[in-house]
Amino acid sequence: MKIGVLASGGGTNLQALLDAQARGELEPGRIVAVGVNVADCGAVGRARVAGVPSFCVDHKSFGARTDFDRALAQELRARGVELVVLAGFMRLLGEDFLAHFPRGVMNIHPALLPAFPGVHAQHQALAYGVKVSGCTVHFVDAGMDTGPIIAQAAVPVLDDDDDERIRARILVEEHRLYPAAVRAVAQGRVHIQGRRVLIEGSARPDERLRSL
Ligand code: GRF
Repeated sequence: MKIGVLASGGGTNLQALLDAQARGELEPGRIVAVGVNVADCGAVGRARVAGVPSFCVDHKSFGARTDFDRALAQELRARGVELVVLAGFMRLLGEDFLAHFPRGVMNIHPALLPAFPGVHAQHQALAYGVKVSGCTVHFVDAGMDTGPIIAQAAVPVLDDDDDERIRARILVEEHRLYPAAVRAVAQGRVHIQGRRVLIEGSARPDERLRSL
């Protein structure tokens, strides 16, 4: 299954996906394109080093969000992309964009949704005072971090954490969980039933999470 990764920033999750691909761990998924909306963001260099073509669609060149969405979908479709994987992509995508990709659009969020959606999730969690946070891989719908949850991983929040320390601890789990979840979707093992997402391979959620 041809995968397009969209990013806006440094791209460490993109790197984890590229590394998994290099080890043969995304198959039958294959990253065929990296799309960005910020021309000089770190993700572009990572794609170049990995030999994956990249393209930029700059949201600032479009008056209406729907026009940006259409241009982005066209670029991905032109490259045969079926599964879209958001990796720090800082734009909301509308229904029209999502309709182009019925096999799925996935995202990773640095908190245990539905807690702390939106930006600065790690800071939100720390400021709220939770003792456990983590990351969530979910399908994207037109809301802000509201789509059906595919997988989650938890990390402790420690008394001496600051934004940077909790961010780094969550990122370790993101880099492990996201490639595994993308592979499961590419394998066709992931099924949406209403709000619930079931992953073939085990009836026991703990085993299923381990295998992710
Ligand atoms: C990650 O924390 C991810 O959860 C969020 O955006 C950040 C992207 O980081 N959606 P990177 O660009 O992958 O390093």
